[in-house]
Amino acid sequence: MCGIIGYTGHLDALKVLLQGLEQLEYRGYDSAGIALLSGKGDDKFLIKKAGPVATLKDACEKLDVESHCGIGHTRWATHGGVNDTNAHPHIAGKVTLIHNGIIENYHNIIEKFGFRDSLVSETDTEVAARLLDYYYSKDPYEAIRKTIREITGSYAFCIMFEDIHDKIFCVRNVSPMVAAHMKDGSFVASDVTAVIPYTNRYFVIPEYQIVTLTKEEIFVQDLEGHPVSPEILEVNWNIEAAQKNGFPHYMLKEIHEQPEALRNTITPRLKDGLPDFSEDGIPDEVLAECEKISIVACGTAMYAGMVGKALIEPIIKIPVSVNIASEFRYESPLVDEKTLVLIVSQSGETIDTLAALRLSKECGAKVLSIVNVKGSTIARESDYVFYTHAGPEIAVASTKAYMVQLASLYLIGCRMAMIRGKFTENTARDFISRLSGASTAVEKILEHKEQIKTAASVVAKAKDAFFVGRGLDYAFSLEGSLKLKEISYIHAEAYAAGELKHGTIALIEENTPVVALATQDHIYGKTISNIREVRARGAFVILITKTGAEIPEDICDIHFAVPMSHDRFTVFPVAAILQLLAYYTSDMKGLNVDKPRNLAKSVTVE
Ligand code: AGP
Repeated sequence: MCGIIGYTGHLDALKVLLQGLEQLEYRGYDSAGIALLSGKGDDKFLIKKAGPVATLKDACEKLDVESHCGIGHTRWATHGGVNDTNAHPHIAGKVTLIHNGIIENYHNIIEKFGFRDSLVSETDTEVAARLLDYYYSKDPYEAIRKTIREITGSYAFCIMFEDIHDKIFCVRNVSPMVAAHMKDGSFVASDVTAVIPYTNRYFVIPEYQIVTLTKEEIFVQDLEGHPVSPEILEVNWNIEAAQKNGFPHYMLKEIHEQPEALRNTITPRLKDGLPDFSEDGIPDEVLAECEKISIVACGTAMYAGMVGKALIEPIIKIPVSVNIASEFRYESPLVDEKTLVLIVSQSGETIDTLAALRLSKECGAKVLSIVNVKGSTIARESDYVFYTHAGPEIAVASTKAYMVQLASLYLIGCRMAMIRGKFTENTARDFISRLSGASTAVEKILEHKEQIKTAASVVAKAKDAFFVGRGLDYAFSLEGSLKLKEISYIHAEAYAAGELKHGTIALIEENTPVVALATQDHIYGKTISNIREVRARGAFVILITKTGAEIPEDICDIHFAVPMSHDRFTVFPVAAILQLLAYYTSDMKGLNVDKPRNLAKSVTVE
């Protein structure tokens, strides 16, 4: 995600842009920039800096220009490192552009139009700017129409043309963008957060329609030039609420962002329905030649690794270990040049995980990291990086980052299976098709929150809770348990369902909540037997199965059926249920969901 803002009117454009970027910084904060049209001749001013908006503000201190038209951008890097050159806005000839989204076919465009030698950045956005300039000869609408016909992917573009004063042109597909006009001028932004200080009336820019902002008005037209009148909306949020997009907590907002995060992480790695990592710079031999895999991470990232192990090991049939980073770094790990170390980290700054990475490289292993924050320390020190595209995750409790870590491990497992001959192309295509269905399955869960709230109302009264499952379900239960305890402060444990009777079942009392995961066909019966054992001791059972599973009489108090038919892919909707269960439990207890006690978002201390 990135934050974009544009303004043209009677106010000081620089001031409006900088204030707007500060409010949009939660959308991305690794670099920021602004571009201004002076209104006198063709002068334009561009300042862009790696670092937070505060760095940009300092750099603008010396800027002495009167401008009432400009665009601004705060970046969450997807293509290209974090530096001044890759920061937005990007200039190509007469075009100045800022962008939120992912241009999937930018490499093809570079080759098709011969842009390679003229590019100065590593970004897909600059390629779009070059294409706009390529097509621009006095008619901005023609240039925009031709450009969006060439590109595929998601975009929210704000465009200025050097010789068209005081006007800003916008067009979007998938990525969000809103616009508003009031007495002081016209605004465009990624979301209402940046507009609220000026007006509470706005409209969502319709997809594939060209919006023109002038000082006096905003007009919208379709690609054939026909005028369009979008619905005007009113918002009564304050700025903080707007940064949460109207959700009461960042965590709930980020849970709802998961379908988009999954699509943004999976889609750019697919070519003709098969996994392709060429744009990530991960050579096949890295996945083909290793004799074992060591997954190393902390917390939720480590639990994503547990799911990765449970998925990959039976398919690839090489040893896959999951190692707690803080333990790994003080062991003598069995890691050598034949080991692929898979580092998983949302922040890319977790000190234990970073230390484990460095130890792995000392042992001669190749390190491939799955990271959400572009240019983070772990990313920079890895041999290869598989970036997730979840956008900034603000809540301490990780949700969308976990979801896209899973998707990344599934993609890597599928690619590895293909190149090692464990998957035929058809099998791989089917696997990817099911993986691509994860976002829809999560969306379906998000439509059934009321039932999850009911389960949370029971869990909120408990002092202990248990999550049980077998196989992949056991791996899923680990994260469910962590989510609950870290934000509700209820003691929770995940247990292999078959292991309960070897001691832990002694803790089951009347109404002890037990979340039982039974989505794996081949061990469904065994898991049901284990559930009967806790039921017989008075447990309050919350059962999660696949849709269509045969549910024995009186086996549970609440039943959720997940809309994923294949065992391997149930983790995505199951994770959403368990995240919402933890969220509503914490909220019902009146706790600080986004900032739970004792915790920090990124653990950069040992
Ligand atoms: C997850 O809900 C926790 N906030 C925590 O366990 C986190 O996953 C862990 O600290 C690892 O962080 P990282 O992914 O940024 O390395």
